[in-house]
Amino acid sequence: MEKGNLEVMISYNEILDRVKLLADAINRDFAGEELLVIGVLKGAWIFMADLVKYIDLPMEISFISVSSYSGARTTSSGVVRLLCDVDRPVERKNVIVVEDIIDTGLTINYLKKILSVRNPNSLKVCSLLDKPSRRLADINPDYCGFSIPDEFVVGYGLDYNGYYRNLRDICKLKLSN
Ligand code: IMP
Ligand code: MG
Repeated sequence: MEKGNLEVMISYNEILDRVKLLADAINRDFAGEELLVIGVLKGAWIFMADLVKYIDLPMEISFISVSSYSGARTTSSGVVRLLCDVDRPVERKNVIVVEDIIDTGLTINYLKKILSVRNPNSLKVCSLLDKPSRRLADINPDYCGFSIPDEFVVGYGLDYNGYYRNLRDICKLKLSN
């Protein structure tokens, strides 16, 4: 594993307080409805696990897996590949796509495109983090945890080259070279 310097940007306690507020907003917006919550693997896995614990609505859970980075890179390749599709029908469902971070927006743009043609009743995006300064696609999350500056972050599900997903806090990663 490549050694890097880690500096806490958002602590787990701060994350959890914000996650509860996001769940409250979803509870209000979808009161009386059912949800299909789709997590984008692998980065959104820990965020989604915390988020759904605070959503008090009937829901199905599914996952979708895409790849936009190749190997040890910290910028998107711009080419999104579908690695594994959802295992539930999307038609007539209130879909919430749960993402770890929206950076260029190309990944979420692609996901919205492939899911919207399946005729969901509604299609919303809930992203833990947002880096608006790097956006290439004209897209914004409907629910957003934190807007952050253009720093590469790891932890709470986010990785660098497959590592650091298990860190409890969201940390800035500075690679030593
Ligand atoms: P986008 O297509 O450029 O919006 O990239 C979205 C994906 O890139 C996210 O789902 C993450 O997996 C990854 N990503 C973007 N920025 C970071 C970061 O700072 N740390 C870790 N992964 C990131
Ligand atoms: Mg991701």
